[in-house]
Amino acid sequence: MECICTSNRSTIFVQHPRWITMNKNEELIQRRKDSMTGGGKARIDKQHQQGKLSARERIELLLDEDSFNELGQFVEHRSTSFGLEKQKFPGDGVVTGFGTVHGRLVYVFAQDFTVLGGSLAEAHAEKICRIMDLAMKNGAPVIGLNDSGGARIQEGVLSLAGYADIFFRNTRASGVIPQISVIMGPCAGGAVYSPALTDFVFMVEETSYMFVTGPNVVKTVTHEEVSSEDLGGAKAHAEKSGVNHFTAANDVECLKKVRDLVTYFPQNANELPPHTSQFEFTASKLETIKGIMPVNANVPYDIRKVIECVIDDASFREVHEDFAKNIVVGFARIEGRSIGVIANQPASMAGVLDIDSSRKGARFVRFCDAFNIPLLVFEDVPGFLPGTDQEWRGIITHGAKLLYAFSEATVPRITVITRKAYGGAFDVMNSKSIGADLNFAWPSAEIAVMGAKGAAEIIFKREISAAPDPEAKWLEKEAEYAEMFANPYRAAERGIIDDVILPEETRKKVIAGFKMLEKKAEVLPSKKHGNIPL
Ligand code: HXC
Repeated sequence: MECICTSNRSTIFVQHPRWITMNKNEELIQRRKDSMTGGGKARIDKQHQQGKLSARERIELLLDEDSFNELGQFVEHRSTSFGLEKQKFPGDGVVTGFGTVHGRLVYVFAQDFTVLGGSLAEAHAEKICRIMDLAMKNGAPVIGLNDSGGARIQEGVLSLAGYADIFFRNTRASGVIPQISVIMGPCAGGAVYSPALTDFVFMVEETSYMFVTGPNVVKTVTHEEVSSEDLGGAKAHAEKSGVNHFTAANDVECLKKVRDLVTYFPQNANELPPHTSQFEFTASKLETIKGIMPVNANVPYDIRKVIECVIDDASFREVHEDFAKNIVVGFARIEGRSIGVIANQPASMAGVLDIDSSRKGARFVRFCDAFNIPLLVFEDVPGFLPGTDQEWRGIITHGAKLLYAFSEATVPRITVITRKAYGGAFDVMNSKSIGADLNFAWPSAEIAVMGAKGAAEIIFKREISAAPDPEAKWLEKEAEYAEMFANPYRAAERGIIDDVILPEETRKKVIAGFKMLEKKAEVLPSKKHGNIPL
């Protein structure tokens, strides 16, 4: 009976002496029990002290009770480098399998930081790939719980190849099944690229971070001193980079949010999103919506109030809440059906489109279109943000992303213009000319090439400068232009918008519109793939 006894961290038996006295069933039960303890009680305690749950505890919270079916529980690494042969743990630092969330199938992997720091190498990667392959064949979402020190240093290039195997699958699965990454500990180096390739990233405040290079390397290379949290914590990625879509205060809240989010998605790109007959709509919201639009067109208002007055009660799940606040995106339900909402936000930078808001909007539109989630757009946009910063960083290319995403979307698409719809931004924000199915405008809509003040200055330049009182002339010409275009009727006369509607009619019109579009079938021209302005 061979026994390999090692280190203070674990005692590993090729064949455990206890099993001599056990029958085969008892042996299985014992082996299962051993695998449940991950890297051992001390390491699980440390995990808890840091405010983190263990991989198995996380899976338990994520999935419906008693629904988890583990696969690969006894997988071990095959490495003999740097004494690794003496450090074997059943499962190799990642718990993988399938289960249900609100009764619907999902595949899940949870990296176990208590086992070799959750580091990824050959066997660990194979386990993740295995469930990704199953998810693709069976058409169900993959949810990855990340908590890992990165590539297992002892296994060298096998670790790197393992990551690449996952990246490849993430890419191939993109647009086929929803993929969610939940960052619940370290996620550094090349490891960050798997979450980056997935559809949504969740991060837990204080205990998770993501960066390509950590604070030490940053200090050496750029001489900047920065903490892990400031460099790549949940807040940094929620506000500055936009890598993080959803932030949670702790593991429990985070997993609850993940469970909720998937209820808005279909299982795969061949299915329609779920439809619930249980929804509520507070009738008084039809009164509230009447009073949201300020009398003065230059006064901001919160577009989220408009959204709330149109969708089912408490159904809005904002994505990227703290990033590029001048555009609001999120999932909602209308009469129990999932929709994606994209709305300019006049309360932030007057709702102007810039690089970040274009990227944010475009990515959201792509997800919704890939997964058959209809799009509802609220438009109040004064144009694109001017300036050298924006121009030199490529607002042209980034703005084009949003234009491209809308133009290529074949899901039902409705736009409601609440106020400003100026210039190129009017075209970009789901106009009919780029394939939207219905465009409505409120009476407060202003659909024009630009604001009346700027327009008057350009087209009446000579008249204004020749006038005895140029300022008064300018005001007169501004009023003339506003009279012509600061309303929805020129656009309605030309059929550029389909109807002018009262704010309180919006919900009814949108419901009727989406019902009418329920069987919409639009096929894109045959091609290998387009060339989105990345
Ligand atoms: C092997 C690792 C490991 C790794 C941690 N451990 N990271 N083992 N490979 N990458 C082990 C530690 O040796 C330790 O073992 C246990 O996990 C817990 O780690 P601690 O350091 O004690 O934990 P903590 O203090 O919380 O620090 C966590 C950490 C740190 C910040 C993640 O462990 C760390 O810096 N790890 C190395 C990170 C790294 O450089 N990874 C490679 C990145 S490059 P014991 O036995 O002591 O408990 C990369 C390339 C991917 O990932 C490329 C893909 C294209």
